Amino acid sequence: MSVVCGGKRGPFSAMTVSMSVFDELEPDEMRRARTRSNPFETIRGAFFLNRAAMKMANMDKVFDFMFTRPKDENDEEVLGPDDLLYFADVCAGPGGFSEYVLWRRSWKAKGFGFTLKGENDFRLQDFYAGPCETFEPHYGGHFVCKLFDLFTPFSVGLVYLMYKSFRKISIHKPNTSRPANSERYIICKWKRKDCDSIADYMYHINELLWKYGTTTDQDIVEIVPLEIMTSDDNFYNYIIQSNNSLGERQVVNLVKIAAFCRDTNLTEPQQAEMKRQCLSYWEIPDKLRTAPPRVAPDAKCDEILKKSKSGTSGLVFKKHGGGRRISDKMIANVQAAYERNPHKSLRRASWELQIPKSTLQRIVPKRLKLYTYQVQLMQRLEPDDKPKQVEFANTMLDRLGTDPDFMSKIFFLDEATFHVQDWPPRSPDLTLLNFFLWSYVKDKVYATPVRDLRERIVEAIESIPKDVLQRAWQEIVHHLDIVTMTAGAHVEI
Ligand SMILES: C[S@@+](CC[C@H](N)C(=O)[O-])C[C@H]1O[C@@H](n2cnc3c(N)ncnc32)[C@H](O)[C@@H]1O
Repeated sequence: MSVVCGGKRGPFSAMTVSMSVFDELEPDEMRRARTRSNPFETIRGAFFLNRAAMKMANMDKVFDFMFTRPKDENDEEVLGPDDLLYFADVCAGPGGFSEYVLWRRSWKAKGFGFTLKGENDFRLQDFYAGPCETFEPHYGGHFVCKLFDLFTPFSVGLVYLMYKSFRKISIHKPNTSRPANSERYIICKWKRKDCDSIADYMYHINELLWKYGTTTDQDIVEIVPLEIMTSDDNFYNYIIQSNNSLGERQVVNLVKIAAFCRDTNLTEPQQAEMKRQCLSYWEIPDKLRTAPPRVAPDAKCDEILKKSKSGTSGLVFKKHGGGRRISDKMIANVQAAYERNPHKSLRRASWELQIPKSTLQRIVPKRLKLYTYQVQLMQRLEPDDKPKQVEFANTMLDRLGTDPDFMSKIFFLDEATFHVQDWPPRSPDLTLLNFFLWSYVKDKVYATPVRDLRERIVEAIESIPKDVLQRAWQEIVHHLDIVTMTAGAHVEI
């Protein structure tokens, strides 16, 4: 039953027609087209644990940081510079919303989260961006909640109860929410003090729902009489207008996905630019997600004590270090070596001159203004390599979207002896061993003269720090993004 959208020609019926296009399609085809057609798709969670965190970042900015820098009705900031922001995140697992708030406020927040135990429990160990120490999980100001369609008297009734409990409400679909689905959020500002009776009423509704459960055929279909909602012009017109505009947007995007399904060469050229502009507008750095360094408790204690001794700024300045000093004599030696043989690699020069490669990297291009050119032998791309790469990248990104742990299930081999997923041919930019491991290991192996090559390779591989490996894995996602955005161009490696 539809109570709040415009009749037979309204968005509800248009949407039903648009959706029927997808009945013929395989779920994979549909998902791939959805990924390619959405200009905001590649934003994903960036360095947060999931897409939900980024939705929160998106909405917080759109509503003038009302969740992380709240203001009162006179436009005055509610929190002083040293005040903690207290927040509750209900139905919160795995905790993306909270991770965002903790990141934005750093140590100036205290969060309480409620969720269910089980597979969607909090993933506090994945709160890389914000300090999870100031977050208290529980199982079981302002308010934000995810909604879907608002077509039934029951769901519109719930919105009406919120409208009566807060000074302002808004129904908003952030750009980070996929445009063809019916997801939207209700954002409620400034809770009224005089609405205990509404809370009691909602409690009562909850009790009835619990009582009816799924075993009886009784259900609650209406919680606020229709005449009350329809006679409040402000409310009723707002819901109609919100449903119509969100519905129209949904229809356009469903049609777009259908077109992308029909023509698999279509791409959304704006994805890269949208990601750049959105992150900059939402004041989120465009960086890769990396695990923060885990510091031993003793070392952290020392660090905090040092900071408190060094005064209010807490800053401790390091004396100038910057590695090995470069003398004029050393520069002259390097120059002479390159005049003798300009084809020498840095690795070779490092070995001959017994100067670390990192020091040579500071001397050769910066002081001597000599730049290296390296001939790279590459396999020629075949005409159908590009579409294959794009298709592969989209599939991988889809899987990553639905299973955050997907990366940990990939096993790279240098020999193609078994596989589940076809890896596209001639794709060194998508293959971790090619774009990261071999060059990293070679640099390590040849850093000093080699005696036992096999032993040196094993040592080099074993000594790769964990965070370097994690960053390399994340690099694959970045490469997949580039392949989808550029319709299969080679990623600079
Ligand atoms: C869509 S997820 C929320 C995602 C979250 N906002 C984020 O930022 O990552 C909904 C969560 O609510 C939890 N949940 C469902 N029913 C609940 C209940 N009655 N009480 C507490 N949590 C509940 C689910 O287990 C799930 O973890």
